[in-house]
Amino acid sequence: MNIVFIGASGCGKGTQAKLLATKHNFCHISMGDLLREFIKSGTTLGNQVAEIVNNGKLVPTELTIKLLEEKIGTLPKDQGIILDGFPRSLEQAEALRLPVDLVIVFKNDVNKLVARLVNRRTCAKCGNIFNLLSDGNLDKCPACGGELTMRKDDQEEAIKSRFAFYNQSTLPLVEYYKARTLVKEVDADKTKDEVLAQIEGIINQYDKNIKK
Ligand code: AP5
Ligand code: MG
Repeated sequence: MNIVFIGASGCGKGTQAKLLATKHNFCHISMGDLLREFIKSGTTLGNQVAEIVNNGKLVPTELTIKLLEEKIGTLPKDQGIILDGFPRSLEQAEALRLPVDLVIVFKNDVNKLVARLVNRRTCAKCGNIFNLLSDGNLDKCPACGGELTMRKDDQEEAIKSRFAFYNQSTLPLVEYYKARTLVKEVDADKTKDEVLAQIEGIINQYDKNIKK
């Protein structure tokens, strides 16, 4: 089963995808992570992409599709995939060749998301995501002891831009997928465990319907 996650910056896409990957053996593809990895190459194109990502704008579809297809090519064929942050526009949805079984839309009070983003810390070693508000004042990764870092795009101006792109380019995707009866919504203002339980409920229901 392949699942697309749609939600504003900070809604918890990455957090939930990691939990589902560990607990239910999904492959997690985060387009943001693929782009941040690409930026590390330090090439001229990598530097141009860094400029776009750090300012909270959208990277051209051509590059995102190339990175996505390369990544899918490395994955086992029989494992479900969670697409976190792709597609982000109608153009990307049309370009996506992977069949989509479910689209989970994270619904949030956007006013609460800025606090989540500025307090997010990501482990540079294992990639786990934490939050100073809910996880306490951590100075090292509690999972592996790695260094905790703040993302360059978790600054006020870049956050504003990411919300604007979400409203303009990504939200129309909800109607696009509703027309294909693929959409399920979760209340993502709840705790991480409660959001996970909602998603697990949706997946279980989908499995039951398939077996009928
Ligand atoms: P990306 O990395 O995908 O960023 P984003 O969409 O802005 O989303 P985030 O990763 O910031 O948030 P999240 O929803 O994953 O939340 P998280 O789980 O971390 O993309 C970055 C950039 O790359 C884009 O801006 C763009 O430039 C480019 N890009 C990416 N995809 C692209 C595409 N398809 N096309 C073009 N360009 C693209 O949680 C956030 C915080 O909240 C954490 O601290 C977490 O611990 C905490 N938290 C999570 N859930 C809860 C909860 N339920 N309650 C309380 N706290 C919670
Ligand atoms: Mg993320």
